[in-house]
Amino acid sequence: MRLEELIQSTQKVSRKELKRIFAKGLVRVDGQIERNISRNVDSNLHQISLNQRLLTTKERYYILNKPKGVVTANKDAQYPTVFDCLHANDRCNQLKFVGRLDRQTEGLLLLTTNGQLAYDLLQPNQKVSKTYEVWLKEAAEYADIDRFKAGITFLDGTKCQSAQLTLLGTAPFHHVQVTIQEGKFHQVKKMFLSVGKKVEELKRITFGPLVLDDTLAVGQYRRLTIEELQRLKPYFR
Ligand code: URA
Repeated sequence: MRLEELIQSTQKVSRKELKRIFAKGLVRVDGQIERNISRNVDSNLHQISLNQRLLTTKERYYILNKPKGVVTANKDAQYPTVFDCLHANDRCNQLKFVGRLDRQTEGLLLLTTNGQLAYDLLQPNQKVSKTYEVWLKEAAEYADIDRFKAGITFLDGTKCQSAQLTLLGTAPFHHVQVTIQEGKFHQVKKMFLSVGKKVEELKRITFGPLVLDDTLAVGQYRRLTIEELQRLKPYFR
């Protein structure tokens, strides 16, 4: 949550008064005077004080193992949305998904009420890595590793950044892993189509420092642990 939102929600002060509070150096983060009113904070990660009184935030962070058939959208006329995977008590208007997975893609999706963090994680300059497990109709070849490394160009001419392709198991390689640091529309499917291979199944297994482990079954979700949240701390700015 941005400091300005936190202070306005606890103090109900005008914008002018808010600026005065910051100018007087009354706001501290981890003991240091903070003058950046937009600084993104979470009291699980930062000690936040106003005039020596500690403030707490109540952000939510969920990791969902998205099932197939569910759309990453706020609402949909035809299909259930990722919010339908949550219990009613865990839903709220401020909850946002961080990036989209296609309807038939499974795997790791972060949901949070921290809108600033969601925005920052999606900025191209943050270069947040995402790893996907991919099942292909046509087998991948060793030469694809270099093609992905050099940067794939889509059939429409759009250029992708360098990506890491790993061939899993033994030839023929129908099961591979790819790591990208961008989030173009249908990116992974289009990258493979550009080298003549159709993606049959796609599953996201990492998002930045978050990893989908075996304990979270398809369709299940849980709150991020404090360790996972700490791993996201570098993205708080
Ligand atoms: N790339 C795709 O093609 N689909 C996804 O859902 C995610 C990445």
